[in-house]
Amino acid sequence: MIIAVDGPAAAGKGTIARALAQHFGFHFLDTGALYRMVGLAAIRAGGEPITTAAAIAAALSLDPSRFADSDLRTEKVGAAASIVAVIPEVRAALLEFQRSFAKKPPGAVLDGRDIGTVVCPDAHAKLFITASAEVRAKRRQMELGSADFEAVLADILARDERDSKRTTAPLVAAKDAVTLDTSGMDIASAVAAAIAAVEARRTP
Ligand code: CDP
Repeated sequence: MIIAVDGPAAAGKGTIARALAQHFGFHFLDTGALYRMVGLAAIRAGGEPITTAAAIAAALSLDPSRFADSDLRTEKVGAAASIVAVIPEVRAALLEFQRSFAKKPPGAVLDGRDIGTVVCPDAHAKLFITASAEVRAKRRQMELGSADFEAVLADILARDERDSKRTTAPLVAAKDAVTLDTSGMDIASAVAAAIAAVEARRTP
């Protein structure tokens, strides 16, 4: 079984996707981390602004098993990820790894932007997790321990814009996705709602 969890930055996808994987005993892949790794590698190899050539080279030589890098979760690397994510060759280079991960038995949960639309259009359950930009910025501010709310909000809005407007695999809810607005929900109720939505799609 494949569960696709998509949505904008800091909507709660990662937390919900991890909880779903744990609940159902499935594998979990944070696909944003792949784009973050490519963004970070491109900066390290070629500096800034990131060039298309450096991003493509980084995507083609990516080793997703070297996953842990504490720099990956910074907002700077999040922005770099959304810049390299616009490049079709980068997306193509990461596609095969994501698709074969999704086939792992007994099941997999993938979170990202285009899982239900491009990576796994046949996923058994698709969730689109969203929340207002202000709520998402507050959550990201707490996650980062950063004091500047306006700067975090501006970063989130810039990333929303870039992710939604790109031509290849833009951020959009799949037609058959269940949308969950977590603006007024705490983690426990968002996870419970997500589990209920997946259960409803589960083949008996
Ligand atoms: O955790 P957060 O939602 O802030 O970001 P992320 O999921 O780590 O993704 C970072 C960036 O990678 C996003 O802003 C997207 O531009 C890009 N991304 C993508 O294009 N497709 C995916 N499947 C996952 C991430």
